[in-house]
Amino acid sequence: MKIKKAVIPAAGWGTRFLPITKGIPKEMIPIIDKPVLSYIVEEAHQSGIEEIVFIVSEHKECIKTYFGENKALEEFLTHKNNDKDLAMIKQTGFGMKFHYVIQKEQLGLGHAILQAKELIGNEPFAILLGDDVYYSDIKPALKQIIDLFGQKNSSVLGTMEVPMDQTSKYGICKPKHIDDEGVMELEGVVEKPKINAPSRYAISGRYVLTPTIFKYLETQNQGAQGEIQLTDAILRMMSEEKVYAYNMIGKRYDTGSKIGYLEAIIDYTLRNEELKESFRNLLREKL
Ligand code: G1P
Repeated sequence: MKIKKAVIPAAGWGTRFLPITKGIPKEMIPIIDKPVLSYIVEEAHQSGIEEIVFIVSEHKECIKTYFGENKALEEFLTHKNNDKDLAMIKQTGFGMKFHYVIQKEQLGLGHAILQAKELIGNEPFAILLGDDVYYSDIKPALKQIIDLFGQKNSSVLGTMEVPMDQTSKYGICKPKHIDDEGVMELEGVVEKPKINAPSRYAISGRYVLTPTIFKYLETQNQGAQGEIQLTDAILRMMSEEKVYAYNMIGKRYDTGSKIGYLEAIIDYTLRNEELKESFRNLLREKL
């Protein structure tokens, strides 16, 4: 079954980036000239996603503005015969369909995903977390796990390997079996284990889930950090369905951390045809 819909939760306060996030949602902070969220939406588009459900809070109107139409700006650019910029601003939504669901209270990632239940309906869907930007010149990270979903017909979590002393920051997988291609069949998953992490395979912001997850999210109690955790609902779902995980190939940027965000800016600028030469010279000069 083709995965056509994706959920992107973007309702948090982005406290790690205060004070800028007092005025601008963290997902709208730019990497060069596009918001972080644009890179994530582009990955979804390149992975075959056609519809996106954004879970937002009331103060995130500018996300809608960015991905929607802007008639006044279009008229202005038309008047100036600026066809290049006109074409560019018409493409910010990649021709996809967008929905916005307001999450009134921030009760956790699991609670955020549950808000998309009606719009997702009874079909498998993807989740992309707004902090994790993936660059891959082979295949988009999300597409890698969508293709696996196609083979296994079961939920797949996108993972990465992290050092043992970092495991308490992530959802950590407990593999039952790992095949020759590195595909893990899971027997457990635990959110931010304080001790005894079952492995170093950390969930890293990409999921393809069956709609069965909603049944478990609806009855999910608070877990780590007093929040309704998606990971806990996935664990309970494992009693009914198989869940797989796969270390996605590509470079991941944690744009929720300041250093991860700065690294993203450096790498994307070094990949930018227009800027890379002068930026490289600038870096040499500075260092
Ligand atoms: C969330 C998930 C966690 C995952 C992490 C990185 O945590 O709950 O399982 O490992 O994203 O994708 P957060 O970083 O929002 O606390």
